Amino acid sequence: MSLPDPSFLLARAPVVPVVTVPSVAAGVKLARALVEGGLPLIEVTLRTEPALEAIAAIAAEVPDAIVGAGTVTRPELVEKSIAAGARFLVSPGVTPALLEAFAEAPVPVLPGCATPSEAMTLHAMGFSVLKLFPAEAVGGANLIKSIAAPLPDLRFCPTGGIGPDNVGKYLAQPNILAVGGSWVCPHDLVTMGDWEAIVALSRAASKLHRAAFPL
Ligand code: 3PG
Repeated sequence: MSLPDPSFLLARAPVVPVVTVPSVAAGVKLARALVEGGLPLIEVTLRTEPALEAIAAIAAEVPDAIVGAGTVTRPELVEKSIAAGARFLVSPGVTPALLEAFAEAPVPVLPGCATPSEAMTLHAMGFSVLKLFPAEAVGGANLIKSIAAPLPDLRFCPTGGIGPDNVGKYLAQPNILAVGGSWVCPHDLVTMGDWEAIVALSRAASKLHRAAFPL
């Protein structure tokens, strides 16, 4: 049986904001700003105490958002994230137990990899869209370009160290469906509640051209 395909979700926007929420209320306001700026896919990292509650609140209160859970590093977080309302899951890497849970998940999963061997192992288990992490540190757009020929069935959503200065290089690769990043929702703007600035950053990111989805 094939696993839920993340491609359809990633087609919705070139950038997936990687969000770390200080509170449920800030998470909802941030989600509204990102959606208004044209970035409906939102990865809420499970790194802060209110993260799961924020996913639930965003799912309930921001109907145009497609909220997912990031930093899913343990099997029990798969069920908890989905119960909260996560519509996709992202991990920085995998363990055998986490992979088992991912294989059972009813929502699309972007499991993390950093090498061709890890990518091949995930592909053999049925995952064909992978997060490359930490993208810039492990070879970035050049790595993904280099593995396009030997691993033609794989697609990527790289994350880690991507920002306005290098995002174009990533999105120029046809095997990159979208990128993840926190540059559209910087910590200081979230803390200050400067939602207008986040709308502007999102708007610019939402207009980035992707080779994977030519207009
Ligand atoms: C993360 O998990 O923190 C993401 O990879 C975001 O990375 P960034 O902050 O470098 O965009």
